[in-house]
Amino acid sequence: MTQKNIASITVLGMGGTIAGLAADPKNSKEYIAGELGIADLIKNLAPSNAFQLDVHNVAQINSKDMRVGHWQALLSAVQEAVSKPHTQAVVITHGTDTLEETAYLLQAMGPWPKPLVLTCAMLPANAPHADGPGNLKDALSWALQSTKGVFVVCAGKVHTSEDVQKITTENVDAFTSGPQGCWANWVDGQWHIQARPDAPSSSEPHPSLAYALATKRWPRVEMVINHALNDGAVVRGLLANSHSEETPLEGIVLAGTGMGTASQELEQALQKAVNSGVRVWLSSRCIFGLAHAQANTQWGEITLLSAAKARTALCLSLLAEKEHQS
Ligand code: SIN
Repeated sequence: MTQKNIASITVLGMGGTIAGLAADPKNSKEYIAGELGIADLIKNLAPSNAFQLDVHNVAQINSKDMRVGHWQALLSAVQEAVSKPHTQAVVITHGTDTLEETAYLLQAMGPWPKPLVLTCAMLPANAPHADGPGNLKDALSWALQSTKGVFVVCAGKVHTSEDVQKITTENVDAFTSGPQGCWANWVDGQWHIQARPDAPSSSEPHPSLAYALATKRWPRVEMVINHALNDGAVVRGLLANSHSEETPLEGIVLAGTGMGTASQELEQALQKAVNSGVRVWLSSRCIFGLAHAQANTQWGEITLLSAAKARTALCLSLLAEKEHQS
């Protein structure tokens, strides 16, 4: 039952460490992610007169195991939530490990008429200083005051889906927005929006929501990294096995050295991939690095996205092409 004149926020649970439990709470490194449902996570929130919550468990996974079906279930739940007139915003609890990819997916599949706010934790729910409850509270507070967009709230910071990247495995402040800093900070009991330039954004084609939800197998796009002694063997292996997999290889994102470069042997292997119809995008493996025209653009397209986000973007772009052709 929903009360009139009070904001309603839909909270969707995806699992992650925020829903994780450690066998021994004092050893917060050994735990299983996604043990608790979303109803358990909101139990400890202080009651509020400012909003009411509508909660749904979408998945209870470790986000490293994200599959197309999980993303489709989330997209579908978001679509349903934002279509309800009384819903003011959607908060999603999610694992940190692939959070930036889900944030990118949601951004790319928008625009949504209401804010979507992802949150997470680095410590399991039963750790003595668990960070999940504070992050969830902050995410609800940001969701109430924010306008449209896809955001990530963690450790008193708001990041946009374009900027956010996980950069540490040890610190509860696990995400960065890059050198330009985060979108907003929680200081002295309120959110302060930072004056900063927008990150370079890329607007790649994406399929309709209906097509993305109806397509069981999304195009296979792999990520390949350049490194010292790289002789291109991984790409040659991918091409050799392409058709023995459930879905053939359709795209490769290179996490290239520096400005998105590859060794000569890797370049040759990627050129072969392009010749056989595989789409190749070039990104940089540097955490704050942007691929640049100095990378060889003869055999690949430059993207300004991080490799992980570029992998999602290329997958959606290929899906959009299929929709167009169908
Ligand atoms: C996960 O991504 O589901 C596990 C790790 C985390 O949430 O920090």
